[in-house]
Amino acid sequence: MTTLGKQQVEQLLEAAQTAAARAYAPFSNFRVGAAILTQGGEVFTGCNVENSSYGLTNCAERTAIFSAVAAGALNAERELVAVAVVNPEGALCSPCGACRQVIFEFGPEAVVIYRAHSGEIAQTKAKDLLPEGFRLR
Ligand code: THU
Repeated sequence: MTTLGKQQVEQLLEAAQTAAARAYAPFSNFRVGAAILTQGGEVFTGCNVENSSYGLTNCAERTAIFSAVAAGALNAERELVAVAVVNPEGALCSPCGACRQVIFEFGPEAVVIYRAHSGEIAQTKAKDLLPEGFRLR
């Protein structure tokens, strides 16, 4: 696992916190922010975007990853290095199953930073959060 420096972790958590302020979450009132680090050293952020048709909600992690892909910063050659995910009130917030699969697609070795069930900030490899993740390539 790529070990991230303490400062890098802090920077990603801070960027995720800023992104969470932009969340569109009028239905759950649960704001989430994510910040990702790409192999190219770029940071992209995302927030959750809910919808009146609830199932169309996009999680913060996927918003950040899809933005990076759309910007050409994340693809088969340029992998995901890290993902930080936060709720601004400090609630436990580990990536949902759908986000784990999307993270796995772009970086099975990526470090995922989140507030775990223990209450502590955890750093876990994506492939450990999603054992036997689905792959076509
Ligand atoms: N949510 C995320 O943004 N990321 C996750 O990994 C878990 C859930 C959002 C979706 C929804 O807008 C709100 O949290 C409550 O489920």
